[in-house]
Amino acid sequence: MQDRALWGTRFGFYLAAIGSAFGLGNLWRFPYVVAENGGGAFVLLYTMLALLIGLPLLISELMLGKLSRQSTVRALDRLNSDAHLNGVHFKSGGAVFSVRVLRWLGFSAVLSCLLVLSYYAVISGWVIHFIVNFASSTLSGREFDADQALMVLKDNGWLQVALTSVHILLTVVVVVKGVEEGIEKWIGNLMPVFVVLLAVLLVRSMGLPSASRGFQFLFYPDFAKLSSSSLLHAIGHVCFTLSIGFGTMVTFGSYLKENTHIPSAAFRVTTMDTAISLVAGLLIFPLVLGGAFQFSGPEVLFQTLPRLLQSSGAGSLFGLAFFACLYVAALGASIGLLESVVANLTDLKIFRRRRASWFAGGISLAVAIVPALSTSVFRNFSFMGLSVLQLLDGALINVLLPLIAVVMSYYISRGLSVELQRREFLNDDSIATNKLFSHWLFVLKWLAPCIIGFAFLMSLIGVFKNH
Ligand code: PHE
Repeated sequence: MQDRALWGTRFGFYLAAIGSAFGLGNLWRFPYVVAENGGGAFVLLYTMLALLIGLPLLISELMLGKLSRQSTVRALDRLNSDAHLNGVHFKSGGAVFSVRVLRWLGFSAVLSCLLVLSYYAVISGWVIHFIVNFASSTLSGREFDADQALMVLKDNGWLQVALTSVHILLTVVVVVKGVEEGIEKWIGNLMPVFVVLLAVLLVRSMGLPSASRGFQFLFYPDFAKLSSSSLLHAIGHVCFTLSIGFGTMVTFGSYLKENTHIPSAAFRVTTMDTAISLVAGLLIFPLVLGGAFQFSGPEVLFQTLPRLLQSSGAGSLFGLAFFACLYVAALGASIGLLESVVANLTDLKIFRRRRASWFAGGISLAVAIVPALSTSVFRNFSFMGLSVLQLLDGALINVLLPLIAVVMSYYISRGLSVELQRREFLNDDSIATNKLFSHWLFVLKWLAPCIIGFAFLMSLIGVFKNH
């Protein structure tokens, strides 16, 4: 336990946690999920759920990691034993919990990391393709053609497989190097640049003639536009974007220093992440509503951003810089996913770090071949109008993640002794923080299971009604 690597600085943790939370989920997935669920009302639902459920669940995962100093599977095992942790006991859970359920929970979380990494890597490959295209138009002085770049990509599945492999290879190389050297350095260097580029683009998009329509679409709640599965989609996206239900935050929590106050750290991560998603919406919707092209789901980021760059007179070099930063964000998130798998494999003493990294990377790549071919070889395969990539995305994010997240946090809330939770939660003994603490416990034990259960029910009813 003593020789576990810890984050060098508090800032290092924020960078890694924000780096893991902030990624394609904010820029690529958020806008198209919002569009599919009708805009403003969904954004409101999502923002409320992020604070009401996402934040408490995030705190619980970080807390489990910090107290057990173990990655997901072992940390959950500990909930079931009466091991001594930091001088305090976990509740003796042998009679309370099913060992099997906890084991399955841990392994499902690790599996979800591997599966999500595989299709996350495919979209990261798209980003690499855009970087290469922006670079070549910068060098040749040609104007960048986003539709052409997308078409080449969609028609050529094996190109996607190749780009996906490049991405997984890079992720493995960083993870092999270990926590501090690897993650902190990579993310720390490029995050600030990205924030500046986003701000510049935001100013440009707010100057477009359709800016007010974009603004209204995003922030004016029209509840009639919600569907029966919108609630579940909002919860799924909250889990995805805050990296909850994967166990990655348990792993990151296990590297936290003793004196870190988890609720404040989690609050900062949640608000930053939500703010970045809203900014992404503000960049993209003015263009979508300006009607310059046909909206087509998962491709929307790749359709709009190059147009935004062109309409604002920014050259290919700006595009290159933007997509390079987007790529680093995607890499940061992928590192988080792979790191979590690797930490579990090493903590369980199955492999050493290097071998675990190559093994997990290899499996992800093998799985990734299917979504990478979804727009070419498997073009004609669809189920309820959804492509292979969308099916995988939906099954993992809207079903598996909320399930794992809610069961895991329920067990955490029951398995850790109240004194231990209180000690981690409170940084002073004021009435306000004590109230927050009771609220947090209430959410984990009652509110989150009820809302998530209700969301599944609504979604099921919707499916039956439509058939
Ligand atoms: N939260 C990341 C995103 O929004 C995805 C992710 C999930 C990364 C889990 C790491 C772990 O893109």
